[in-house]
Amino acid sequence: MNKKIAVLAGDGIGPEIMQGTLRVLNVIAQKFNHHFEYLEGKIGGQAYEIYRSHCPVETLQICHDADAILFGSVGGPVNEQHLAKWKNCELNSILKLRQHFNLNINIRPIKVYPALITSSPLKAEVIHQGVDYLIFRELSGGLYFGQHEQFIADNRRSAKDECIYLEEQILSIAHAAFKAAMLRTKKICSVDKANVLATSKLWREVFNETAKTYPEVQLTHMLIDNCVMQMIINPCQFDVVVTENMFGDIISDLAAALPGSLGLIPSVSLNKEGRGLYEPSGGSAPDIAGKGIANPCAQILSAAMMLRYSFGMNTEAAIIEKAVQTIFAEGIVTKDLLRNQEKWVTSTVLINALIANINKH
Ligand code: IPM
Ligand code: MG
Repeated sequence: MNKKIAVLAGDGIGPEIMQGTLRVLNVIAQKFNHHFEYLEGKIGGQAYEIYRSHCPVETLQICHDADAILFGSVGGPVNEQHLAKWKNCELNSILKLRQHFNLNINIRPIKVYPALITSSPLKAEVIHQGVDYLIFRELSGGLYFGQHEQFIADNRRSAKDECIYLEEQILSIAHAAFKAAMLRTKKICSVDKANVLATSKLWREVFNETAKTYPEVQLTHMLIDNCVMQMIINPCQFDVVVTENMFGDIISDLAAALPGSLGLIPSVSLNKEGRGLYEPSGGSAPDIAGKGIANPCAQILSAAMMLRYSFGMNTEAAIIEKAVQTIFAEGIVTKDLLRNQEKWVTSTVLINALIANINKH
C-alpha cells in the first residue's frame, strides 16, 4: 500500500522521538512492501518561529494532503521573546487541528505491561489482575469550545466558561464507544456528573437510548468524582470508559500515570470520516529534550494505532505492539520507567532493540 503521512514533530522531545518512530515505520514498510511518504510540517513553537502562527495554513494543507497525521509534541514558543504575545494569540495548535478536522473522538489505551508492574505507582496487589482499558473522550464539545469570558460585574472581576453539548455530539461518541465495546468484553462505563450538570443529564439520557441498539453491551454510569477514586483503588474493573471533553482530559492524565510513565500512552483523535491524528499523550518534556533519553514508546505505539485505525494494517500494528511488550519483558526500558532498577537504555538503544525484534517475525 502507498500512504502519505503528515509528520508534525513539533518541539521539545518531539523531533527525536519522531525520528525513531519513522525508523520503525520504515522497517514495517520494507517488511510488508508498503510505501510511506512523509510530508513534514511545522507545528507549535517551531512553526511560530517561521510563520508567526502555531498552526499555519501551510501545515493544515500538508495535513489535508495526507492520509493520516502523526503528531509529536508541542511545548510552546522556541524563542522566549514570543512568550508574551503567544499567551493571548490563537488557539493552542492541537486544539486548532482538532477543530479544523472536526476530530471528535479521542481514544487513549491505558495498559500496565505485566513486565512493568513495579513501575506503576500503584501496589502490585491492586493491579495484578491486569489494567487494560480504553478511554473514549468526546473532543468537540463541552467547556473547551464554549465561550470563555472575563468581565467586570458589580465592580468585581468575574469570568465564565460556557459548556454546551448537542445530542448529535453525544450520539457520535456513544456509537464509537459501543462499537469498541462489542469487540472487547462488552462492558462500557459512561462517566458524567449527572447529579449536577444539565449537559451530563442529556449525556446519560442519550447513552441509555443508544444502549438499546447494543443489547449485548452492559452499560454502567459512574459519576466523575467516584470514577477518579475507582481508577486508583480498583483500576482492573474498567474496559471501555467513555466521557465528555473536560472529564476525559482529566481522567486520561490520571489513568496515564498507572503504567508508570506518560511515555507509554499513545492516542488517536478521529473524525466521522475516519481521518486520524495520532499523538503521544505526554507533553514535550523540554527538560530532557536533546539528551537522547526520552521514552519513544508512546509515539511508536501511536504510529501502530495509525496503521490499525487509518490504514487497516492490523498485522503490522500488532507486530509493533508485541515487540514493545517483548523488549519490556527483556528489561529494555528508558529512564522514566525505573523505580528500583539501575539499568536503563537510551531512546536509540531501545529503538534498535525494537527493530531487531520486529525483524525476527
Ligand atoms: C490533551 C491536552 C490538551 C487538552 C491541551 C494541550 C489543550 O491536555 O490532549 O489532553 O486539554 O485536550
Ligand atoms: Mg490533557
